[in-house]
Amino acid sequence: MVKKYTFGTPFNTGAIVEDIKAESTPVPYFEINTDEGISFSCKLADKDIVYGLGEATRGINKRGYVYNSYCSDDFCHMETTKSLYGAHNFILVEGKKTFGAFFDYPTRLTFDIGFTKADTMRIYCDKADIDVYIIEGSAPLEIVKEFRKVIGKSYVPPRWAMGYMQSRWSYYTADAVREVAKNYRKESIPLDAIFLDIDYMDEYKDFTVSDERFGDLPQLIDEMKAEGIRLVPIIDAGVKIEKGYDIYEEGLEKGYFCVDKDGKPFSAGVWPGLTHFPDFLNEEAGLWFGLKYKALTDLGIEGFWNDMNEPAIFYSEKGIERFYEKLAEITNGDKSVDNYNKIKDIVNGLQNSQEDYNSIYHKVNGKLVKHNDIHNMYGYKMTECTAKALEKLRPEERTLLFSRASYVGMHRSAGIWTGDNFSWWSHILLELKQLPALNMCGFLYVGADLGGFGCDASRDLVLRWLGLGIFTPLMRNHAALCTRDQECYQFENPEDFKNIIELRYRLLPYLYSEFLKCAENDEMFFKPLGFEYKDDEVARSCEDQLFVGNELMIAPVYTQNALGRYVYLPEDMRAVRLKKGGELQFEDMPKGHHFVEIPLHEVVFFIRKDKCIPLAKSALSTDAMDFDTLRLIGFEGAKYELYTDDGISSDLNKIEKKIWEN
Ligand code: GLC
Repeated sequence: MVKKYTFGTPFNTGAIVEDIKAESTPVPYFEINTDEGISFSCKLADKDIVYGLGEATRGINKRGYVYNSYCSDDFCHMETTKSLYGAHNFILVEGKKTFGAFFDYPTRLTFDIGFTKADTMRIYCDKADIDVYIIEGSAPLEIVKEFRKVIGKSYVPPRWAMGYMQSRWSYYTADAVREVAKNYRKESIPLDAIFLDIDYMDEYKDFTVSDERFGDLPQLIDEMKAEGIRLVPIIDAGVKIEKGYDIYEEGLEKGYFCVDKDGKPFSAGVWPGLTHFPDFLNEEAGLWFGLKYKALTDLGIEGFWNDMNEPAIFYSEKGIERFYEKLAEITNGDKSVDNYNKIKDIVNGLQNSQEDYNSIYHKVNGKLVKHNDIHNMYGYKMTECTAKALEKLRPEERTLLFSRASYVGMHRSAGIWTGDNFSWWSHILLELKQLPALNMCGFLYVGADLGGFGCDASRDLVLRWLGLGIFTPLMRNHAALCTRDQECYQFENPEDFKNIIELRYRLLPYLYSEFLKCAENDEMFFKPLGFEYKDDEVARSCEDQLFVGNELMIAPVYTQNALGRYVYLPEDMRAVRLKKGGELQFEDMPKGHHFVEIPLHEVVFFIRKDKCIPLAKSALSTDAMDFDTLRLIGFEGAKYELYTDDGISSDLNKIEKKIWEN
């Protein structure tokens, strides 16, 4: 049961697709205060768990910290970071009282979850214009399903996008891409896609291709496709200001860019230098931009990633002017710490500055709206417009699409990756914790940059991260400029990587089938243990294991030099161990605590009691796989309902469902 409570005149975010009539009764569970903006307070009992917030830092249980829902480009996020790339305002309290709440608000909203006062959760924002939805149900999963019902069905990617994908900022030339493909094939490591980061473009201009470096892109696309490898180019939000560049000229002429308070297009510095931001809040402008993807779909491109769409701003034209003014105020020759701090603040203040977000305007239904008032809509609307246009450009087939910035509602159009992480062990665990929270908000096609984006990755870190990555729907290895090469073949004994990635392909019939089920039935692909075992305190407090679909549990290793790890089984399970060389070994384990040895080159996962899963034979790409010849592993007599389709058709009614018995 979902109930809506409206305060003031909320902005229509489009997150909720069902027509729900607002209640006049007070909001249950919360005390409301409107002295300043609006705040919602609620007492938490000692053992209550607060789940949710999608892409956020810290635990599966969000208690004990404060989070700001404000899409932020944070290249170096840590435990103390309060805002990440996405804004996902859904929480679920489980314990003495069990309920869900969604705060539909398009800009900064703060969730103080027992940080200021341990027993109090307080959610607040500046303006009392907000829709609050309270979701009731007897159990966490039921509440999630109720919520998912009103936010609409999740995006389903083509099946090939659940294969292993390789990326790097950047493969600078077409030949560099060929080299990656050649090396993967040489080592017989499966690979389904290679990503083109910003350098495929001509001076980072969207929808252009560098003649010098990717002059033969159409041929490259065909060559790769023949190998079962798709190319996936990046599209950035900012449009380079350059006379003669058609997208810039057209956007300018039609008034499709965001403006400043005087109505002049707002100029911000991003990768291409000064750019204008398309006004994705204006549907006409958004569709115009979306249809520009045709330049690439016409060449045979079947997937895209939308980036820098918080939007990220390195500096603005006005910001640079302010910068020099402030710099001029600095006393020349002053070597004091005070002066040093001033200089530092002036420089640091340039990027993603609040002043800039306050001076951008959108046109929404003919009215000017301040960007800062709808900040969390920008990446969401960019990606929604892209998806709508892609439906026109490629009506028969699903297109791979994921974005960096997001808000609830965007899950209907695309997936997300979790932005610029680091090659840190702690970021493996962070990914694990974000996965179920993202699913709660409908984002099913999710994953992190495997191996870590920033800084140098060690071999063992990449291997261990793959141990989690083989279970994430979006499975992409990506690394930043100037970091160590992190393609699997760059490390010694690539066969160890091959083995683990092959396991992903062997599991694909199961993973894909579970994904389709979750999309159809508003289920979660990743569930915290406490969702199934809410009377088991150990399961409830478990922060490093997850259920994957309905049949599996995973407990990845996320610490360096570990021989294995402690695993808690909330029920009897059958451990499946991938040995070096690909052999699978099985061991029945009783409910309880176990130390499970997991050498670096092995992966262990667990089949739940009385369940079984289908396995296929691996191949070099999903195109080359035989999805009809399967074997079941797991408990004798168990049944599995397999969902299949051709992996590409837009029409999801073509999904076939078949029961397999072990
Ligand atoms: C951003 C993206 C990253 C990309 C880089 C260059 O930092 O998050 O994935 O590689 O820009 O385009």
